[in-house]
Amino acid sequence: MCGIVGYVGHRDVVPILLEGLTRLEYRGYDSAGVAVVDRGGSVGIRRAAGKLVNLKTELADDPLAGAYGIGHTRWATHGKPTTENAHPHQDAAGRIALVHNGIIENFLELRSGLEERGVEFVSETDTEVIVHLVSSYYEGDLAAAVRRTLDDLEGIYAIVVASADEPDKLVTARQGPPIVVGLGENENFIASDVPPVMGYTRDVVFLDDGQLAVVTPDEVTIQDGAGNAVEAVAQRVTWDPVTAEKGGFKHFMLKEIHEQPTAIRDSLIGRVNRHTGQIDLGELNLDEDLANSMSELLLLGCGTSWHAALVGKYWIEKLAGVPVKVDHASEFRYRDPLVADGAVACAITQSGETADTLAATREAKDRGAKLWTICNVVGSMATRISDGVLLTQAGPEIGVASTKAFTTQLTCLYLIALKLAELRGRLSREAIELRLHNLARLPGQIEGIVAQADKIDEVARRVQHFKQFLFIGRGLLYPIALEGALKLKEISYIHAHGYPAGEMKHGPIALIDDGVPIVALAPQSDLYEKTASNMQEAKARDGFILAVATEGDENLADFSDELLSIPDCLPEFAPLLASVPLQLLSYYVAVRLGCDVDQPRNLAKSVTVE
Ligand code: G6P
Repeated sequence: MCGIVGYVGHRDVVPILLEGLTRLEYRGYDSAGVAVVDRGGSVGIRRAAGKLVNLKTELADDPLAGAYGIGHTRWATHGKPTTENAHPHQDAAGRIALVHNGIIENFLELRSGLEERGVEFVSETDTEVIVHLVSSYYEGDLAAAVRRTLDDLEGIYAIVVASADEPDKLVTARQGPPIVVGLGENENFIASDVPPVMGYTRDVVFLDDGQLAVVTPDEVTIQDGAGNAVEAVAQRVTWDPVTAEKGGFKHFMLKEIHEQPTAIRDSLIGRVNRHTGQIDLGELNLDEDLANSMSELLLLGCGTSWHAALVGKYWIEKLAGVPVKVDHASEFRYRDPLVADGAVACAITQSGETADTLAATREAKDRGAKLWTICNVVGSMATRISDGVLLTQAGPEIGVASTKAFTTQLTCLYLIALKLAELRGRLSREAIELRLHNLARLPGQIEGIVAQADKIDEVARRVQHFKQFLFIGRGLLYPIALEGALKLKEISYIHAHGYPAGEMKHGPIALIDDGVPIVALAPQSDLYEKTASNMQEAKARDGFILAVATEGDENLADFSDELLSIPDCLPEFAPLLASVPLQLLSYYVAVRLGCDVDQPRNLAKSVTVE
């Protein structure tokens, strides 16, 4: 949802900004731009509609050099993705430049006020009002002008501002979307996320909501919302920068699918001991009292994370006997939800910065719930507002379509289900050990599925021409049908619908003919026979059947046109395994159709606006 970068220091600024934007392009790719202040004190701006490559071409044709500067890659909200609407935006005198991530809700009102005072607008964006306001308040102190401007703004923002009149200084502020300040030696960095700074420093400060920072090459000073000085608390990022690179894979998504065995192992390490049956979820702050007093668990998320929540509901209710409600965060926040006394709300969010999920969890907290977060980003807002955190150890996920973040979310939800079951006395030590033993086998089993990539690509070749797909599953596999359909939609733009297999006869079966393939999730489970019947009903209507079945299943092979297999497992673990062939199927269909897999149209990795 827009990526922003800033640099002050001794290096040539443009390459640093471009490299940073490249690492943030997953956040938006409708347009991009940079503003640089040169040693002579003048501001140079280059912007281009479309992907970052267009800006790079623009800069190659018309280079810029300078000492400090800011950059932006946009996911359009207000105004089309044109060059005029691309950031950075400037004040009328061309002395102040600004980049923004977020939405200013009262921009129309602010804009008319400025227009009445004679300000001329050159873009359709909400952002442009901010830079004109800063300029109108500027009296020789950029930070003070920004602080006054923030008082006028309603909405959410992360901004970085540069002024030609205050050399080697950037001012940044956040209310909602993230800002990370990277601390270097005689240089400092600003970015929307950690990857742009990782090549230079591992020491970062995550700004809090309402904070403003003044960043020079030698100093970072932070103020709270009232303008009081706040200590900058640095955190060390331990990710390996190489994991944020493609590492020989054609796309990040393919790399991230392959990384799932490692990501799941990393999410288990230090938390489970399969020999003793111990489960340690320390950071979640879940003890026997809480496990037994908890009246209900509310799982809140968006998109793929919501699908993880749906799987979590099956596990937690079955294993731990805790009632679970799952909500789309965007619905929960606006529907006057009932939150029982003793409820725990758990945000499931890869990024920890999805606006709807943050708002929903705050709503739950206001209604008395304790807050947990299952999150992949250390230091993100979701982790900071929660009473308990379980980090998915997926490492950076760059592909917009979530893969390893999803399966590690599932892993963490399963651990919560088991821990709750243990603390509530619902499972014996032996039953837990058996499950932990099988959980430890999953990474190896996923390696086996990934090794079938060529076979899955061949299936993709056979089905790529279909214009719509139905994905069906029952029980734990119903959410995986939803997720399989979402993956295909997101990256190949083929219409796909996920449905509970038992509901087919209540409507969707009307769609079936030889032009509608059915992807049926039918590994061995107590619902196997029922799903197989639903598949036969579809076959009887000429549907093309692509089954995901347990290895060696001869029965389904008889009436399936294609069959992808997953290893034999405890039925509880089928969601983790069955997700992987569906990810690969979507990936290969999208590649064959020539789609932009890592940066699908109209999407962004983290959605920091409503
Ligand atoms: C966006 C992404 C999805 C993701 C959803 C929730 O829509 O495109 O892939 O599932 O946000 O993101 P979160 O970071 O909260 O898990």
